[in-house]
Amino acid sequence: MLDQVKKIIAVASGKGGVGKSTTAANLALALQAEGKKVGLLDADIYGPSVAMMFGVPEGQRPESPDGKSFMPIVAHGLETMSMGYLVTDKTPMAWRGPMAGGALQQILTQTNWGELDVLVVDMPPGTGDIQLTLAQKAEVAGAVIVTTPQDIALLDARKGIEMFTKVKIPVLGIVENMAVHICSNCGHEDSIFGTGGGETVAEQYGTELLGSLPLDRSIRERGDQGVPSVAAEPEGKIAQSYRDIAVKVLEQLASDSSDSGPEIVFE
Ligand SMILES: Nc1ncnc2c1ncn2[C@@H]1O[C@H](COP(=O)(O)OP(=O)(O)OP(=O)(O)O)[C@@H](O)[C@H]1O
Ligand SMILES: [Mg+2]
Ligand SMILES: [Zn+2]
Repeated sequence: MLDQVKKIIAVASGKGGVGKSTTAANLALALQAEGKKVGLLDADIYGPSVAMMFGVPEGQRPESPDGKSFMPIVAHGLETMSMGYLVTDKTPMAWRGPMAGGALQQILTQTNWGELDVLVVDMPPGTGDIQLTLAQKAEVAGAVIVTTPQDIALLDARKGIEMFTKVKIPVLGIVENMAVHICSNCGHEDSIFGTGGGETVAEQYGTELLGSLPLDRSIRERGDQGVPSVAAEPEGKIAQSYRDIAVKVLEQLASDSSDSGPEIVFE
């Protein structure tokens, strides 16, 4: 039930492991810190990670008061839903393409989302069925593309951008992740892969570099501990970076005219 959800944004990438889930989790928390009511949908039905990142205990199941729909699990103030809440260790998650799409459609539409300003969708890697299902079944206000410097070198970020353009979902901007390495001993910064890649790709595609996050041990540790950086250290430098990204995302969403009801197109 998406009728009370004002805006849906997808956090995606062309390639796996670049930090989509980490970005989605921290961005959702940062949007909340900006005063918004926020939900987080883990659309990665093959490898869900929201339960771990939000410290939702294994085995906690969403309530279903009517036996048909599910209540989201509230974690760190966010309404969250994940396939990880619905399947057990013993349920194999080897979905086939169409089944995977169906599963996403189900958790998207059978969750009792409350009044949300923004629903952040943490996408699985790649450009396949799930991405298509989301574009077809929900009105997605925009996509945030996560890249790493290597990802840019391998053109994977571009694939992600092009896929969303194809299904007519606007790209809100790019988050460059693991750009600079922060040494956990002395804190010195090292741009192992060079700088400026995210900026270049953003320019090429007429989109914005929303922000850049360092490769920082604490970002991984916070995620593993179930309290993402923005919740763990709300006054920290990393939280501030995510807050800056959240502000830019909100600006983009505000300038989007789809709020004013369905558009009438004359041809
Ligand atoms: N900026 C960062 N600094 C350090 N570690 C990070 C950073 N971003 C993500 N990580 C870590 O990298 C790993 C992969 O991140 P994450 O799970 O967010 O990627 P993903 O794109 O969602 O992966 P998948 O494609 O498998 O869904 C995790 O262990 C995460 O904690
Ligand atoms: Mg992920
Ligand atoms: Zn050092």
